[in-house]
Amino acid sequence: MNDKQKPGERVIEGNGQSSGIPAEGAMDVGAREPIETRGLHHWREATITEPGLDDRGNVFFAAIEMTRMPMILTDPHQTDNPIVFANKAFLDLTLYEEAEVLGRNCRFLQGPQTDREMVGQMRDAVSENESVALEVLNYRRDGSPFWNAVFIGPVHDTSGKLLYFFASQLDVTRRRESEKASLQAQKMEAVGQLTAGLAHDFNNLLQVVNGNLELATARVEDERTLRYLQSARGAAERGAKLTGQLLAFARKSRLDPRPVDVSACVNGFADVMESAIGKQVELQLSLRRNLPKAVLDPEQFEMAVLNIAINARDAMPEGGMVELVTGKVRVIDDAASQGLTPGEYISVEIRDEGEGMPPHVIDRATEPFFTTKTTGKGTGLGLAMASGFVQQSRGRLVIESEVGRGTTIRMLFPVATSDQIEPQAPPRTTMLAKPDHQAPVEHILVVEDSPDVLALSKEILEEIGYKVSTAESGEEALILFKSLEPGSVDLLFTDLVMPGGINGIVLAQEVAKLDPSLSVLMTTGYNEELVIEGPQASGLDVLGKPYRRSDLLDRIRQALNQRGVTEQRRHPSDYGSAEE
Ligand SMILES: Cc1cc2nc3c(=O)[nH]c(=O)nc-3n(C[C@H](O)[C@H](O)[C@H](O)COP(=O)(O)O)c2cc1C
Ligand SMILES: Nc1ncnc2c1ncn2[C@@H]1O[C@H](COP(=O)(O)OP(=O)(O)OP(=O)(O)O)[C@@H](O)[C@H]1O
Ligand SMILES: [Mg+2]
Repeated sequence: MNDKQKPGERVIEGNGQSSGIPAEGAMDVGAREPIETRGLHHWREATITEPGLDDRGNVFFAAIEMTRMPMILTDPHQTDNPIVFANKAFLDLTLYEEAEVLGRNCRFLQGPQTDREMVGQMRDAVSENESVALEVLNYRRDGSPFWNAVFIGPVHDTSGKLLYFFASQLDVTRRRESEKASLQAQKMEAVGQLTAGLAHDFNNLLQVVNGNLELATARVEDERTLRYLQSARGAAERGAKLTGQLLAFARKSRLDPRPVDVSACVNGFADVMESAIGKQVELQLSLRRNLPKAVLDPEQFEMAVLNIAINARDAMPEGGMVELVTGKVRVIDDAASQGLTPGEYISVEIRDEGEGMPPHVIDRATEPFFTTKTTGKGTGLGLAMASGFVQQSRGRLVIESEVGRGTTIRMLFPVATSDQIEPQAPPRTTMLAKPDHQAPVEHILVVEDSPDVLALSKEILEEIGYKVSTAESGEEALILFKSLEPGSVDLLFTDLVMPGGINGIVLAQEVAKLDPSLSVLMTTGYNEELVIEGPQASGLDVLGKPYRRSDLLDRIRQALNQRGVTEQRRHPSDYGSAEE
């Protein structure tokens, strides 16, 4: 449109040989396909003075055959509005030969996943002699699908009679896919943040519920009350397990990644897997020997594999075979597009020959609470946990599935580098949960910002004979510590993430300056920092929440036992990393 032209006014070209109505942006779909800017000047409908397709000697015909933009004409006066002209680019796009497309209605490009609503819009536009632009899933001659940004507009003669339909097509698959992936990633990120926040708070609550139930159980004699308490504990523990899965999905589990021989690891829990999938389903293991070690947390790995194997079982109600295959792959060229760093990965594949998943289920299978199972049968957390765990381990989980043919879930984990393999932590000292009665009463400083959790751990530790001092923040703990007689505290037991300037790590550093021999045990619901630093940081002694009474006592004892050992080896900033 030029300045003198009014909106909607015809553009006359070539001394009146043709004219058209400019699109003025009305034909833009998606990201303003196909020109990435508003289509203002191109015509949405045209009027010509020379009908016919035989005049192919002019430069305009050459232009149509040279452009990389697919274009066609159809003849609405022939039965079923067939294609009467298709340019070379249309043949390139669809992979058909000219003879195969002339005389056919364009619907041969449509297929099983084509949105009928879009087809309906094209049908309506064509029957009303109107122009239309939309994106529709089409299929090439070889069956491969592509997203087609199609524009259709009528061509009239000067009396206004319809002569042809013109259309241009464009493959916009890549744009659609990256849009979809980034939308999905945004959605998962948002859900992940929400989940992580919720799960973190729940962990603290469950800690208190579980711990108090445990304490109460120890004091009650009445059978019936005991049963009530047991059932409450069972439920609280299931809650803790769910919270754990949510944290795994949100990539905020407290992982203990270390170099692991994945084949040996699978071998180690094959029995558990077999009993989980039941007698109907046969488990076949193809475990490569002598694979390089992968860096992962073996306990979470077992949980992920079990979740996937149970899904495989559920997909084969009549029974069948589940195959678990380990191997090594190299990811180089497409590493970035998979969100991986280039290099070697250990792959763990679990295949079933079950019902498979349609594409819309594959798309959502790793979302938390997405399930196709009836209420009570599935919570929709199995794959969410597995994929969150794999991503947190810097790997990737891929789903391949076809309805009626089965499913393959492939997990890739990074191969350990040589410096990760060398330092082997010595086995933990034998567990001795009780205070050392030959020694004077041991003094523990407990720091925790949640008063309920604080009260609970104080109760558990005092009950068994430790002397306990408490603080509700890092600042308070530091003031208290300085006020106590030097050397009188044996262990600092602190929450890792606390509000205020002094978190658990800073507190440990400050305290280590004052008393380098002090043992430190940390606790946390989740902890990103540790995970990001990976195995190097696992020298920190951390107890994950929620913990049982026995876990707490065992870990306190171990930490206290380290006191003598660390005294000789520790230098001031080396808090907590007793196991070098
Ligand atoms: C000029 C022209 C081009 C068309 N191009 C396509 C196309 O590229 N892809 C497609 O799926 N449908 C295309 N169609 C739509 C189909 O030909 C048909 O109109 C549509 O499927 C609705 O009719 P139906 O319900 O009878 O199939 C085009 C139609 C016309 C008139
Ligand atoms: N091997 C498989 N075959 C077919 N469909 C599967 C398979 N694995 C997962 N799915 C589909 O993905 C959905 C999500 O799986 P996920 O493991 O996350 O949850 P769930 O199995 O429904 O519940 P939960 O694992 O929490 O008990 C399932 O409901 C199912 O529709
Ligand atoms: Mg499941």
